[in-house]
Amino acid sequence: MSRNADILRQYRQRVEQALMERLPPESRTPRRLHAAMRYATLNGGKRIRACLAYGAGIAAGAEPAQLDAPACAVEIIHSFSLVHDDLPCMDDDELRRGRPTCHRAFDEGTALLAGDALQSLAFELLASDPTMAVSAGIRMDMISLLARATGSLGMAGGQAIDIDSVGKTLTVDELESMHERKTGQLIHTSVVLGAMAAEADDPFLRAVSGYGRAIGLAFQVVDDILDLTADTATLGKPQGSDLARNKPTYPAILGLEAARDLAARLRDEALESLAPLGDNGGFLAFLADYIIERSQ
Ligand code: IPE
Ligand code: IPE
Ligand code: MG
Ligand code: MG
Ligand code: MG
Repeated sequence: MSRNADILRQYRQRVEQALMERLPPESRTPRRLHAAMRYATLNGGKRIRACLAYGAGIAAGAEPAQLDAPACAVEIIHSFSLVHDDLPCMDDDELRRGRPTCHRAFDEGTALLAGDALQSLAFELLASDPTMAVSAGIRMDMISLLARATGSLGMAGGQAIDIDSVGKTLTVDELESMHERKTGQLIHTSVVLGAMAAEADDPFLRAVSGYGRAIGLAFQVVDDILDLTADTATLGKPQGSDLARNKPTYPAILGLEAARDLAARLRDEALESLAPLGDNGGFLAFLADYIIERSQ
């Protein structure tokens, strides 16, 4: 196993443990809600967002323990977004991470509330997790950034454009704006939060921000490609869901080859942004390749 693949495995294990400790136990009332929150989060995601936070923070000189809270916060927001994305009123999907979606395993009301409660928990962690070694001012900035990436100008706004665009032909600019909001911003923010938790300086923040912006968009371009080209067992979610629901995607609008070319160009852009980090940017560069070349 390459050194970077080994680091990826270690960060994944680390965030799994950190999430397990921070999610309320199922034994605590209301038990069904807590069980649904744990079910939706502790279920084998790739943990890319957490790994980006760890990668950026450690490149900026932090210890892993200082990064557990932001790594958990972005994975928790992401898991909440998936629970709501899968609901019958949204993508109406039955499979997530190889298991029944949260509303299938529990019920719609519980899934809705689990999403709500996960969202609150993410902000609570940034506000008060004692393992984060930053000033109150930086905590405030981190909370603002994550709130913006999650709200109507970020993920929720992108999802609103998504449901409004079914069956429509978007321009490439409209599609880029939708993807940048619904997926790009949270990935971008994951990188920046890691660097902020490490109290990185402005040139470092600018470099990883450029990287995060490019791989954030690339991530959804690849997600769209995989919806067409992968299989359900590998994906752990229903292949062809976008096509079945007539969603505007990069392959639908540009064609498969042009979508692949765009993902590769965005990866190159991300790598260029990392140049000021020198050797310190090695793991983030590895993650950019992973995001483009992944099969699930
Ligand atoms: C899937 O994200 C949903 C998108 C925002 C494209 P991931 O592919 O990161 O999902 P998990 O966390 O690995 O399940
Ligand atoms: C989801 O996009 C983006 C989110 C904000 C959750 P998709 O609908 O393409 O994600 P998958 O393919 O269901 O994971
Ligand atoms: Mg969707
Ligand atoms: Mg979906
Ligand atoms: Mg998708």
